[in-house]
Amino acid sequence: MAKKIVVIPGDGIGEEITNAAVLVLKKISDKFQLDLTFESHAAGGTAYDLYGTPLPEKTILAAKAADAVLFGAVGGAVWDNVDPALRPEKAILGLRKSLGLYANLRPIKVMDCLVEYSPLKKEIVSGIDIVIVRELIGGIYFGDKCESEMKDGFERAWDLENYSVPEVERIVKLAMEIAQKRNHKVTSVDKANVLATSRLWRRTAAKVAASYPDVKTNDMYVDNCAMQLAIHPTEFDVIVTGNLFGDILSDEAAVLGGSIGLMPSASIGECTSLYEPIHGSAPDIAGRGIANPIGTILSAAMLLRHSFSAEIAALAIEKAVEKALLDGYRTIDLYRDGFKKANTEEMTQAILDRI
Ligand code: IPM
Ligand code: MN
Repeated sequence: MAKKIVVIPGDGIGEEITNAAVLVLKKISDKFQLDLTFESHAAGGTAYDLYGTPLPEKTILAAKAADAVLFGAVGGAVWDNVDPALRPEKAILGLRKSLGLYANLRPIKVMDCLVEYSPLKKEIVSGIDIVIVRELIGGIYFGDKCESEMKDGFERAWDLENYSVPEVERIVKLAMEIAQKRNHKVTSVDKANVLATSRLWRRTAAKVAASYPDVKTNDMYVDNCAMQLAIHPTEFDVIVTGNLFGDILSDEAAVLGGSIGLMPSASIGECTSLYEPIHGSAPDIAGRGIANPIGTILSAAMLLRHSFSAEIAALAIEKAVEKALLDGYRTIDLYRDGFKKANTEEMTQAILDRI
């Protein structure tokens, strides 16, 4: 039966990188007879310019009806001054909320052939294999907020961080289940020495962990975790944390692998799952055809694996990416003398040729 993938390119380099991933998915679809179909929908600043909203109702309905969503990126300085409720970022936040995507899985690996590109020493990063499980539809991102109010004669703004026990339970359970298929280790990250939400998080995580005696669990403060990621990154297996801490730690962890441009993610939950690279819309290089398409192509591999149980097809993409890198193809973010400088199209072609 045909499977429908809704593609939401968004802003900046979103169009270029999702086009690249769709080409790869089309080839895979033919090769493995997956019968994939594609439908493109608007979101982000581009949608705001066209329709006056960053997340048209039509896009939400299409995403809900799809078998999977492939997302590019949203945002850009040109929309910095629009009404905060209509910012491009509201597109991805709104999609996550509407689809109930409570978990964002961000795998961080360092390919052997890219170890030299890490900002850290080879001995430190070699062998990194981490999955960050980020809570995605709660916490300070979605709490009440106030853009501006006057108090004691001064303007102030505030954002409310809050988590409920069920919200923490479901994400920690998922992290435990993921760890059971990996190295049986979960680090729950919080700021329980200061924040009430973190203390609830820590208590709840401990209760959930008690049902998974085969998983070694520890708690870590987020500031320490940021440091441990830079000094002992290979000590981690699964990291589970709230929305804001997960956002920050995953960018840090992503560069350990050489370039954030390589990193995919899967957002899963109650309805259709969504797949997106973790880098942003990179407006500075948008439209020039030089963006690294690998983060999105690897997100497409995650899509095949998680939404369509097409493990062999997913592996075919991952192997092709690794082979293209091994054969020396490098987009601008990773280019060094002696390698084959590739723009988005050439990198995509190098990957297509290796499937
Ligand atoms: C990410 C991004 C988003 C986030 C932005 C674009 C809203 O940084 O997916 O990590 O903060 O979640
Ligand atoms: Mn982010």
